[in-house]
Amino acid sequence: MKPSSLKNRHVLLAVTGGIAVYKAAELVRRLRSEEAEVTVVMTESSQRFITPLTLESLSGNRVCTDIFSEPMAHINLPESADLFVIAPATANIIGKLASGIADDMVALSFLAFKGPVIFAPAMNWRMYEHPVVQRNIKTLKDLGFHEIEPEEGELACGEYGVGRMADVERIVEAVKGCLTKKDLDGLKVLVVAGPTREYIDPVRFISNRSSGKMGYALARVALRRGADVTLVSGPVSVDPPPGATVVRVETSDEMLEAVKKNIGGVDILVMAAAVADFVPDDYSPDKREKGEKFTLRLRPSPDIVKAVSDMKTRPFIVGFSAETGPNIAKAEKKLREKGMDFIVFNDVTLDGAGFDCDTNKVSIIDEDGIADYPLMSKEDCSEIIFDHYLRHSK
Ligand code: C5P
Repeated sequence: MKPSSLKNRHVLLAVTGGIAVYKAAELVRRLRSEEAEVTVVMTESSQRFITPLTLESLSGNRVCTDIFSEPMAHINLPESADLFVIAPATANIIGKLASGIADDMVALSFLAFKGPVIFAPAMNWRMYEHPVVQRNIKTLKDLGFHEIEPEEGELACGEYGVGRMADVERIVEAVKGCLTKKDLDGLKVLVVAGPTREYIDPVRFISNRSSGKMGYALARVALRRGADVTLVSGPVSVDPPPGATVVRVETSDEMLEAVKKNIGGVDILVMAAAVADFVPDDYSPDKREKGEKFTLRLRPSPDIVKAVSDMKTRPFIVGFSAETGPNIAKAEKKLREKGMDFIVFNDVTLDGAGFDCDTNKVSIIDEDGIADYPLMSKEDCSEIIFDHYLRHSK
């Protein structure tokens, strides 16, 4: 397996005093599971909600809370960190940081740190909307610090509004984004993902087992590496990565239309969708009655990748070939016939490489030959696919 992009990266996590502090414990655990080194600094009020011992146990490092008991910690810790994360960030700390006040471990460490900073506000919606808080957030953003905006929902105080700290996975994604080389910066990537549904009547359709996980991982990794990403997606149950422009479709005709509409200016098309290859020829506008035997005639669906490769100005095209068996020759044929730049082959009958799992085992085929890769996460497959693109485009 490829190591996580956070392996051995040092995250300095500042925890401030709001009820969302309990999520900081989960954040530490997730960062550690990605093999990051995590050190925590806490404000005094945050320790009223959660003890340093909790975060010490989870991070495996001593938590620093007092500027006087360790006079040099606020200099030494930031010096060894790659990234400074403030989660949750209260209105109080945001105000202090925006105006340069440095009277506790978190504010001092912030001023002594020279790298990228992420802050995740968490507070009551009226406080978040307050013009003073908004002005302070703007000051921090204008200075280049990155806000992970709070979410809308039920707040700890029982009210509803915007102010709930961003989900831990969003923070982890932002951490990865900050620590990833932006080698796709300036590129427009169109990822097409998921299955399509081809209707027999208003309530029944033909589809396939695609979960969309491969395409969504590609979109997430492209965003992380700095690309501008549009995701055309068939019906799936996974969440799209924040930052992607998402166009939802159902049928292969809708998918083709969405691709045509969004192809202008695209540098790379990644066609990871499992387009249902068959469309019912005689759609019934009324629900078909059961009991009667009938024959369903099918016609081929439009070939989306071929339609793009036939265009006068066409992007770089990456296609997929999901086969039942080690039939690489089929993938080679598709590469030629559909005019792709390279094709990603996978045998869906192998353990861990089929539908709806988080891993895949792929071979990448281009005019120069075949490169085989071991079983790895779909995110790591995505990294390899974009690395391959970068080598090609040189
Ligand atoms: O279905 P097949 O194995 O031929 O698909 C190979 C590639 O062509 C995939 O990248 C798939 O997304 C794409 N495709 C398409 N339009 C279709 C069927 C497949 O663009 N109707």
